[in-house]
Amino acid sequence: MRLARKHILNIRNYEPGKPIEEVQREYGLKEVIKMASNENPLGPSPKALSAIRKNLKKLNRYPDSSSFYLKEKLAKQLHLKSSNLIMGNGSDELITIALRAFAEEGEEVIIAETTFLIYVIAAQLAKARIIIVPMKNFRYDLQAMKSRITNRTKLIFLANPDNPCGTYVTEKEVAAFMKDVPDDAIVFFDEAYFEFGRQEKDYPDTMKYLDRKNVIISRTFSKAYGLSGLRLGYAMADPALVACMEKVREPFNVNLLAQAGGLAALDDKAFVKKTIKNTKEGKAFFYKEFKKLGLEYVPSATNFVIVNLKRDSKEVFKKMLSLGVIVRDMKAWGLDTYIRVTVGTEKENKKFIKALKESLAL
Ligand SMILES: Cc1ncc(COP(=O)(O)O)c(C=O)c1O
Repeated sequence: MRLARKHILNIRNYEPGKPIEEVQREYGLKEVIKMASNENPLGPSPKALSAIRKNLKKLNRYPDSSSFYLKEKLAKQLHLKSSNLIMGNGSDELITIALRAFAEEGEEVIIAETTFLIYVIAAQLAKARIIIVPMKNFRYDLQAMKSRITNRTKLIFLANPDNPCGTYVTEKEVAAFMKDVPDDAIVFFDEAYFEFGRQEKDYPDTMKYLDRKNVIISRTFSKAYGLSGLRLGYAMADPALVACMEKVREPFNVNLLAQAGGLAALDDKAFVKKTIKNTKEGKAFFYKEFKKLGLEYVPSATNFVIVNLKRDSKEVFKKMLSLGVIVRDMKAWGLDTYIRVTVGTEKENKKFIKALKESLAL
């Protein structure tokens, strides 16, 4: 395409999980369950939902560009200042914002091989030089990542826990890594699955590195709070870093309902607790069933699990679609025999296992 900027032409479009409606239409199915995008199967936080309803009549107004009340409340809960926080249209946006704010063309960005696909896309957009570091046993290899740091390194992305692998790096591993990261390279801890990851006893407390002034930590309302469709995330960082990110943020990136919903969700600890419980039980069920089927899986610190089907997973994926179960095949990550499944409700988990058995019998 002659009219496009050249560097965007090689960008591989992000492929989201298949929407329920599309599968219903394609396969003529009434009931379809989606276990493909690491969403919350229990619905949205009820408190958020009720706050959103109350705010519908205000939609003729622009949202507060600074998300003042939301940042104030978050700051209080996190024992930070509002100036340590920036809100995003999902935490996705904060990844793009960080690259836009900090990576000069040609500067290096270190990214693990089997991780969240948006890092590469956003780095390509920023014309950064991408350094890909292989994983070790489906885990981030922080030693290897450290060895790739040069004086051209600007950003290092660490999804912890990781998507799609579900694994996490420990407090000890992060401490050993952080010790040697130079002050002019920024470590971006993507903690989209923080609420799940923190259930592990050696999951790191990365907030203690915020004083280092070269650390950004992002989190989201999409997963544990069940608000993926609302698009709300935040990042914590030193105020000087936040100020730079604010310069490249769209003024009304966080809409009015997201601010109202997010504010209320922060009080919905009961919902988060219920989500954690459902996730733990769901994973235990999956593990038990995978073992029975002789399938290897990667133990997960998130709300999803990857499992090796030992055959082309695209075929199984398609068969499962026809049975009304949407999972994610792992071709985009080069794991051609794996699928990723998000924990659902008890009923959905059972339906998934039934459909998997049927699909594997092909
Ligand atoms: C590792 C990771 N980071 C960030 C995100 C983005 O989440 P959101 O933009 O909904 O906050 C996701 C979503 O799946 C993710 O898996």
